[in-house]
Formats: sequence, C-alpha cells, structure tokens
Amino acid sequence: MSKTATLQIDGKSYEFPLVTGTEKERAIDIKTLRGVTGGVTTIDPGYKNTGSCESAITFLNGEEGILRYRGYAIEELAEKADFLEVAYLLIFGELPTKHELDKFHADIKAQSHVDEDVKKILDGFPKSAHPMGVLSSLTSALVAFNPSSVNVDSEEEMYNAIVRLMAKFPVLTAWAYRKRVGLPLDYGDDSLGYVDNFVKMMFKKPSGDYNSNKTIVEAMDKLLILHADHEQNCSTSTVRMVGSSHAGLFVSISAGIAALWGPLHGGANQAVIEMLEAIKEDGGDTHKFMQKAKDKEDPFRLMGFGHRVYKNFDPRAKIIKKSADDVLEALGVDDPVLDIAKDLEKEALSDNYFVDRKLYPNVDFYSGIIYRAMGIPVEMFTPMFALGRLPGWIAQWREMRLRKEPIGRPRQVYIGENLRPFKSVENR
Ligand code: SDX
Repeated sequence: MSKTATLQIDGKSYEFPLVTGTEKERAIDIKTLRGVTGGVTTIDPGYKNTGSCESAITFLNGEEGILRYRGYAIEELAEKADFLEVAYLLIFGELPTKHELDKFHADIKAQSHVDEDVKKILDGFPKSAHPMGVLSSLTSALVAFNPSSVNVDSEEEMYNAIVRLMAKFPVLTAWAYRKRVGLPLDYGDDSLGYVDNFVKMMFKKPSGDYNSNKTIVEAMDKLLILHADHEQNCSTSTVRMVGSSHAGLFVSISAGIAALWGPLHGGANQAVIEMLEAIKEDGGDTHKFMQKAKDKEDPFRLMGFGHRVYKNFDPRAKIIKKSADDVLEALGVDDPVLDIAKDLEKEALSDNYFVDRKLYPNVDFYSGIIYRAMGIPVEMFTPMFALGRLPGWIAQWREMRLRKEPIGRPRQVYIGENLRPFKSVENR
C-alpha cells in the first residue's frame, strides 16, 4: 500500500503522506499543501471528502452500516448498556466500573440544581417559543451561573464542568417542555435513575405521584444511546469549531444545539412526523409523495431518508424500527403513521431513484413514532436528540481541546470582483 500520494501541478510533482487509521481508513495529509505549492488549496463544499480531525471516539462505516462507540458495536451497547454508562464511555474512553458509574451518577445528582434565576430567563420566552431555541439560550446562559471557564489541563475542573452539564441539561430540556405546555417546573428526584428522573421531570403532574413506566424509561434510554454520538456530523463539527477558539464548553454545546435544530440534521425527526401526518391527512397516498420527492422542481424531500455517510441502512434505524413495534405494542398505541412509514419505506427501497442514490431510512425516520407514543409532542423531538447527543458533543469537545487542535479557520476560493476604484455617490 502506498505511504504517500503524489499531486501534479504545472508539471511539478508534490508528495503528501497518507495517514491510515486503526480501521484502515486512509487520508491524504495536506497540512503543507499551500506552503509547498505557493498558495494552492483544496475546495470541498460540505466537506464530503475532507476529514477535519483524527478522533478515537466513534467509528462508522457508511458502506457497511457499521457504528461503534470507542470500539463497541452500537447493537451491543443498545442491548446491554444504559445511557449513563455509554455517556461515560464516550467521554472518558472506557466502560465505567460499578464504582466509577455510581460516582458519576452521584456527582451528577449533586449538581442537578439549576439556579432559580434561570427561571427568570425562561419566563422571558413566549409559550410559543420552539424548545430548541429555548434550550440553546438556556445552555448558553449557564455560563453566567458557572462563570469559571474550563481549565482543560485540570482533569478535576474538566470533570466538574462535564458533570455540571450532564446534570443540568436534562433539567433545562424538561423545563423547556413544561414551560411550553403551561406546567409548573419540576425539580426531579435523586432517588431515580438518570433517564427515569428525566421522564419524571417531563411528565409528573403537579397533582399526582410519579410512577415509573418501565417501557417508556427503557425505550427512551435506548433512543438516547442511539443518538449519543456520530463522529463529525454537522452539530458535532460546530461544537468542535466553536471550542477550537477556546470558547467555553457550555457555549460550544449551545452552538451545537443550534446546528442540530436544522431540518436537514436533527430537526428531521420533527419533519418526518409532520411529513407522515401530511400524507395521512392527504389520504395516505405514499406514491404521490414519493413522486414529489423525486421531482427536481419540487423542494419536497422524503424526510428521514438519505444520509451523508450511510449509503446502506443506518444501523440505528434498524434498531429503532424494531423498538417502535415493541414500544407501541407495550403501550397499547395504534399509530396509523407507523403503517404509513412502513409503506413509504417499502416503496422507497424498491424505487430506482432511491436505490441508485443509496437513500435508506436514517435514525430520524422511526424515532419520532416512538417519542409520540410516549406522549412527547413533536416540537420536543429534536430536544430529545440533543439530550442524547450531549455526551458525544462533550466527548468530542474534550478530545479536541486535549489534543490541542488548532483554531478552525478554513480557506476559500474568492470569486468576487477584482480591484476597482471607489465611486462617489454622485457618480453611481
Ligand atoms: C442526521 O451526519 C450525521 O451523522 C447526521 C446524523 C447524526 O447522527 O448526527 O446521522 C443525523 O442528520 C440524519 C439525516 C437527517 N436528515 C434528513 O432525514 C433530511 C432528508 N435527507 C436529506 O436532506 C439528505 O439525504 C441529507 C441532508 C441527509 C444528506 O444530504 P447529502 O449527503 O448532501 O446528499 P445530497 O443532498 O447531495 O443528495 C444526493 C442526491 C440528490 O439527488 P441528485 O442531485 O443526485 O439527483 O440524493 C437526493 C438529492 O436530491 N436526496 C434526496 C433525499 N436525500 C438526498 N431526494 C429525496 N429525498 C431525500 N431525503
């Protein structure tokens, strides 16, 4: 196998090292390109062919539909681990011992209070505010209540910042929901597990007791695991980019929430349900919507289909699809959009347009059906994605800072006006 790649420009050859990862992925290291060629750079809109970093956190192979967190297969983690274990694994690199996990959870519980003044910020939002906007703002606001910026050279300071964020984020997420539906804010219960406590903060009615629903807690735990990291996706790259300027952890995560909100990214889980509802309202004619999705003149896309990296089944979608059947049956929910989703998937998987472009259902295609069966409103679907992705964002931010990555600053190819003299307003 070659150890270098050769580039020919104007009859001159330039050699660059080939970097090979532990899963045999290869990349051309072009760190010296601009210098040795006298100014030539690369251009790759959307970074479809460009690696931004070397990372040891998540490995995925889009052609084979493989996803692993720190070397562990997503199928095993979804089956055998719980979300807090997976969060610890992603952030610190190893599955925790029982002592480490118990301490992690205890330290999180100790930090689960959110300053009462944060409620004044929450009160400033109208009920109609989208929870992702509220969550991004409140996460950024946490800086004001936790002013010490993280000294990444101190393991203890980094650990404390991570624990604070893991503790307060579920509270803010539940508060964003309760504000929207007019419920008084809930403070959680330290006797409950991490995910069980989040469900309680979301759904406990002021007038009644909270009784854990095992089906809901286990299904949500699995969904959060499946969303926990996904290498250099749009929102994670945003968190790394913002953090590369040495901006704090909380504001970097706030930027990641904003990026995740987009309907082409994490916002797709909300868009999928809205699409399935529209198909149902329109009489359930999936074929009509398939034609729209293929029509280049029509901006409509089949939400929940396609992926920048997976050109095979998204392994998470397979797990979620099975879980959707189990959860709806266990909860006694009969959701007609699930049948529409299955019809849509079946038709797309046999349609040349989708087959030729390797467009398969992604993580967002079925997740909303489960969230809805749990009683989570559609505008809270993307905040649920953010809650799952939080440990991945933290892990990636921490890795970027510990590896002392340089500030992110891409180049460009200028295509604007050449030099021209200023014209006074009388002569324009
Ligand atoms: C997530 O990156 C990650 O890891 C993200 C994520 C994570 O865990 O962080 O996995 C989470 O964001 C999942 C993706 C959720 N988004 C959606 O479901 C929205 C619908 N999907 C598309 O918008 C699209 O597939 C993207 C954005 C996901 C990927 O777009 P790409 O890689 O830029 O591909 P493309 O837009 O260049 O499309 C290639 C072709 C085009 O047709 P041609 O120009 O070749 O004729 O496929 C077509 C596209 O028009 N196409 C679709 C389509 N997705 C792509 N056509 C109809 N419906 C779709 N959904």
